[in-house]
Amino acid sequence: MSLTVDTVRPLQWGDDGLRVLDQRKLPASLVYENCQTAGEVAEAIRSMRVRGAPAIGIAAAYGVVLAARERHAQDPASWRELIEGDLECLAGSRPTAVNLFWALERMRKVILTATEEPVGQLLAEAIAIHEADISSNRHMGGLGAAYLEGAQGILTHCNTGSLATGGYGTALGVIRTAYRQAAKSIYATETRPWAQGARLTVWELNQDRIPATLIADSAATLLMKAGRVQWVIVGADRIAANGDTANKIGTYALAVAARHHGVRFMVVAPMSTIDWNTAHGDDIEIEERDSKELLADSFLTQSSVITAWNPVFDVTPAELIDVIVTEKGTVEKPNPAAMQQLIH
Ligand code: MRU
Repeated sequence: MSLTVDTVRPLQWGDDGLRVLDQRKLPASLVYENCQTAGEVAEAIRSMRVRGAPAIGIAAAYGVVLAARERHAQDPASWRELIEGDLECLAGSRPTAVNLFWALERMRKVILTATEEPVGQLLAEAIAIHEADISSNRHMGGLGAAYLEGAQGILTHCNTGSLATGGYGTALGVIRTAYRQAAKSIYATETRPWAQGARLTVWELNQDRIPATLIADSAATLLMKAGRVQWVIVGADRIAANGDTANKIGTYALAVAARHHGVRFMVVAPMSTIDWNTAHGDDIEIEERDSKELLADSFLTQSSVITAWNPVFDVTPAELIDVIVTEKGTVEKPNPAAMQQLIH
């Protein structure tokens, strides 16, 4: 059976560097920018030209290739020391998505063992990370869709599609696969304040001709109460070893509301999103972004006494999650022991 059309690619590697689709400009314009240094890649991540946990990790891996190219040309004898600053710069770009640190660790292993042609070896690793992400997403699509038989409606939050990954998507990958198997009503939240749902998710689904309905974040509970959705499906930026899940701000509220209304809750994420070194969700660093992303222009004056608190992720406790889907299998009613089954 052919897979659902999946046309969007946020990252493209070429001889002239890493082409990054500027997601700040979507859906008004489709513009790729070329990054030629690790610093430019870090800035693309910080400014959210590229965003979504897996895509951030993939971009960082290519950023290491760019750094190696520059540092090795600068001094083939000491490039390993020189590249440390670039790794630090990439690691400092955003704090919550653990895929960033996971990808940098994988690249660091190649840095330490590379012999001749380190740039070629690093590029092969970055491409392997990129390609494995797409195939994991397709596999998770099938695993997650198996839970959705009979479901008429699905609600998703933020953007977890091709734009947020190497391609196909995590939560949106499950939705793509499920939609291919049987038409369903797909609802996407606006995802205030950055509007990943309103600007990205519905754009991406429209590109691939998958019908969807956009709702205001505040309409989600009414949607559940009306019985229009049987599942909420989201991605993750970091999953603690006990299954607590950090994801886009508002995810926690959706999980609480879903439990209240008897709606089931699914998290879809590759193994690279699981942080085995973090026992509990309370230990996950939550990024707070500039209040300017939230405040109306009229309050951005020196004389204004109004500020804004802008945490961009929250943590959903494991007990509110019905199932976590990874490429290595699924974990129902996640807890520390059940999570461990993924690696044993
Ligand atoms: O701030 P963003 O847009 O990078 O946040 C993205 C999310 O929260 C996604 O749900 C998460 O990264 C999973 S993407 C497959």
